[in-house]
Amino acid sequence: MSRAFNFCAGPATLPEAVLKQAQSEMLDWRGTGMSVMEMSHRSDEFVAIAETAEQDLRELAGISDDYAVLFMQGGASSQFATIPLNLLGDKTSADYINTGIWSKKAIAEAKRYADVNVAGSSEDSGFTTVPDPAGWNTRADAAYLHYTPNETIGGLEYYFIPDSGDVPLVADMSSTMLSRPVDVSKFGLIYAGAQKNIGPSGLVVVIIRKDLLGKARKETPTMMNYQVIADNGSMYNTPATYSWYLAGLVFKWLKEQGGVQAMGEINARKARKLYDFIDGNDFYANPIEPRFRSWMNVPFTLADDALNSEFLKGADARGLLNLKGHRSVGGMRASIYNAMPEEGVDALIDYMAMFAKERG
Ligand SMILES: Cc1ncc(COP(=O)(O)O)c(C=O)c1O
Repeated sequence: MSRAFNFCAGPATLPEAVLKQAQSEMLDWRGTGMSVMEMSHRSDEFVAIAETAEQDLRELAGISDDYAVLFMQGGASSQFATIPLNLLGDKTSADYINTGIWSKKAIAEAKRYADVNVAGSSEDSGFTTVPDPAGWNTRADAAYLHYTPNETIGGLEYYFIPDSGDVPLVADMSSTMLSRPVDVSKFGLIYAGAQKNIGPSGLVVVIIRKDLLGKARKETPTMMNYQVIADNGSMYNTPATYSWYLAGLVFKWLKEQGGVQAMGEINARKARKLYDFIDGNDFYANPIEPRFRSWMNVPFTLADDALNSEFLKGADARGLLNLKGHRSVGGMRASIYNAMPEEGVDALIDYMAMFAKERG
């Protein structure tokens, strides 16, 4: 059996070494006679797995003791509500920057709980750029400033961390987490759905500055209360044990690769190759302002949309899978997360070059 190159935006390709290790440990995890899936979350074995995963993540991302790391459930989307419920405190308003579909979803959900001020938006440009922070209409009395560092669907990524002053900065890092070094100390809260750079879907990692705990509104569901989750080591109820374990294997793998610094260099190279190819070929195009192009999600269009299905069929036949763009934007999208080997990008470029030559 051979593995294909899977360019899916999420759930996304995982490192082959991680899958093999999980396979080898499936029936009997280190002499326990059972799979991690079957273990009590209160067992010494699982608690060790969980603590090691957290420790490795702290090391990889440079997370200090000023922050709690939570392994929650419900995906990144559940955080769209969890954040305002927990962070508004005695305030009523929150600032959001709108750079695409995921920002919009976060904004729509927050509006159910907060007076949302869209302090900056690039909607007028069709989300092809990040609005200039000099023009952001942020408010000093906002409970937090939320932004989406990488818009997975549009393929738009910030190359800077916004300065929110004393207002806690909140970031949806679902599709950029661990892809490059980031100064966590600049953030009040970071969250990331796992299914891109961390592990299986459903799990969501939340990194929260400890002084932001304990402000949840009275009506906040217990399972969404950060303080409760932190006080219980993310085990107030039965956590997503197998996903947590798999995330731990991914963190170990990342450390073996040289950590996020090394990944950042590889990711920059993979993205540059692909964008350079797209820019150098009249048949393909990417609409994003070059300095805001995502390293992780590379959307592109063909010169003629009528060729899309033929392009996808040929790609599938070569084991280049899931290149179809999101239904809302069309075209193609190659997601090239940490676990996508450089050979996958090379194989995609070879195919794109051949297709353009034959059909262009
Ligand atoms: C940036 C971003 N935020 C949020 C989500 C939603 O994540 P989930 O499906 O885990 O709720 C996604 C996509 O999957 C995403 O790419």
